[in-house]
Amino acid sequence: MAINWSEMRNLHVVHKLKQILAKWFGVELFYASEHGKIEGYIFDKNYQFQNYFMKIQMNLLHGHDLLNNDVEKITEYLSENNNQYTLFDSFFPGVKGVASKIVIEGESAGTIFAFPFITETLTSEEEINLKRKLIECGSTENDANIAIKQLKSLDKSEKEYLHELVELVVQELVTFHHEIEKREARILELNSELGTKYRYHTMIGKSKKMQLIYRMLERICKSESTVLIQGENGTGKELVAKAVHYNSSRKDAVLLAQNCSAFNDNLLDSELFGHVRGAFTGAIKDKKGLFEMAHGGTLFLDEIGDTSLTMQVKLLRVLQEGTFLPVGATQPRKVNVRIIAATNRDLKGMIVKGEFREDLYYRINVLNVLLPPLRERKEDISILFDHFMEKKCAEIGQPPKLISKKCLEKIIDYSWPGNVRELENEIERIIVLAGDSKTIIPEMLSQKILDFGEPVTMMGQKGLRTSGSLKDAMEELEEIMIREGLKRCNFNKSRLAKELGISRASLITKVEKYELDKRSLEKKKKMLTAV
Ligand SMILES: Nc1ncnc2c1ncn2[C@@H]1O[C@H](COP(=O)(O)OP(=O)(O)OP(=O)(O)O)[C@@H](O)[C@H]1O
Ligand SMILES: [Mg+2]
Repeated sequence: MAINWSEMRNLHVVHKLKQILAKWFGVELFYASEHGKIEGYIFDKNYQFQNYFMKIQMNLLHGHDLLNNDVEKITEYLSENNNQYTLFDSFFPGVKGVASKIVIEGESAGTIFAFPFITETLTSEEEINLKRKLIECGSTENDANIAIKQLKSLDKSEKEYLHELVELVVQELVTFHHEIEKREARILELNSELGTKYRYHTMIGKSKKMQLIYRMLERICKSESTVLIQGENGTGKELVAKAVHYNSSRKDAVLLAQNCSAFNDNLLDSELFGHVRGAFTGAIKDKKGLFEMAHGGTLFLDEIGDTSLTMQVKLLRVLQEGTFLPVGATQPRKVNVRIIAATNRDLKGMIVKGEFREDLYYRINVLNVLLPPLRERKEDISILFDHFMEKKCAEIGQPPKLISKKCLEKIIDYSWPGNVRELENEIERIIVLAGDSKTIIPEMLSQKILDFGEPVTMMGQKGLRTSGSLKDAMEELEEIMIREGLKRCNFNKSRLAKELGISRASLITKVEKYELDKRSLEKKKKMLTAV
C-alpha cells in the first residue's frame, strides 16, 4: 500500500510544514515507498532545493545512487526492527537525517525523510573528512565548502522539535488518506446505486417498473434456465436477451440470434440441427445447425410466436431431451445451449386458438420477463430522450440539442405505440430537421406528437389516429376525454362521470389506468421542471 505523495505533498498543511522544516532546520522533506523507492520529484533537473548540500549531492555523478542506498537501508531497518522513527547516518560522515514510517491499518505505506543536518558542530578533522568525501565523489572544493557551511547543527531540543514536526506530516498524510478512502468508497457506493437505478447493461430507465426488471435480470443472469421475454414492439426484448447473455457465465461463448419467422419448414431440420454429407441431394459437405453453432453459448429465438407447429414440435423435442440428430446422422448429439425466446404475441391466446403448443410454452416460459410499454413508464422518457440525443449527436460530431419544456411535455404526453424504437427514430428525425439550430422547437416534432392530446374538433378530428388497432385508438380517445374533462371540471369526478355517462367507480378505475389523478399529473409536472 503506497500513498500518493505527489498529490499529498501539495496539501496546504504538508506544504506549510515543509516550508517550516526548511526554514528552521534547513532540511528537505521527501517520501519513499514501503519498498524504499524515492518519489521522483527530487530527482527532477529543475527542482529547486532549499538545501545546498542536497543540491550538490544530487548533482554528483552517483549522488542519486548514494541517496537511494541510504533510503533503502533505512526502510529495511525500520521494517525489520518494527520501529516507527529513527535518526540515521548517511553515506557522508557526520551528515544525518530522520525517517518516520507512515503506518496505515497496521501496514507500512512508505517513509517520510527529513535530510540533511548535523548534530553537533563538526571538528576540523571531521569537516576535512566530509570535504574529502564530497570531492572524491566529484564535487568542487568551493561547492563542498559552501554545502558543509550551510548544514544546520541541531541540538537535543531542536531534534525533538524536528521529530514532532515530521510526525505531524505523517499524521496529516494518514488522516488525509483515510478521508480520501472514505470519499472514494462513498463515490463507489453512489455510483453503483445510480448504476442500478438508471441502467442495466445497455438498457436505460429509472422507473419502478424497470427497476423490478433489472432486479429480476440479476437473478436470471445467474441461472441457466430458459427465458421467455414478452413485450410490445420496440420495448427492448433484444436488449434484454443481450444483457442476459453478456452478464451470464456464458458471456465468453457465442450469442446466436435467430428470427423464427424466417424459418422455411422444408429446410427446418437442416437449419436447426445441421446435416451430414450426402444426407440428401445437394448436401455436399457436413453443415452445422443452429444448436451446434450455439453450443456452450446462448441461442436467442426471436419472434418465437411466429414458428409453425412443425417447428414447435422439433424445438420441444430438443428442449426436452437435450440432444438432436443432424439430418442423415445416426448418432444423436448432446447440446449445451441456453435458450432465450422472445415474442410480442400473446402466446396464451395463441394456445387457446391452437396456434401455439402449450407444452412448448411451459418449456420456454421457465423464467419470464414482461417488458412494460413506454406509455406505462413515462418517467423514463426524458432520460431515454437525453440518452439518444447525446448518442446520436455524438455520432455526427455535434453537441446535443436543447429541448424546450413545451416540446418535452408533448413528447412525454404522446402514447408511443412503437415504444423505445419509435422514440429513438423520432429523435433521429428531429436531429436531421434541426440541422444547425441548437434548440428543438415544436415545429420539428412529428405531427402525430403535436396532435396528440389536442382537443378533438368536430371538423378536423385532430389528433385522432385513423390507422392501427381500434382498441388503442379508443383508449387514446378515452384518455384524452378524461384528461380534458378533469381539467374542465376541476377534478370533480362525480360531475365528470355524470357528463361522460359512466359510473363514478368506473371513472376512478380509468383515471388510475391512465395515471390522470392530480398526484400523477403533479409528479409529471415536477419531472418536467427537473429536466
Ligand atoms: N431500455 C432501453 N434503453 C435504451 N435503448 C432501448 C431500450 N429499450 C429499447 N431500446 C432501443 O430501442 C430499439 C428497439 O429495441 P429492441 O430491438 O431490443 O426491441 P424489441 O422489443 O426486440 O422490438 P421488436 O419487437 O420490434 O423486435 C433498439 O434500438 C434499442 O437499442
Ligand atoms: Mg426484437
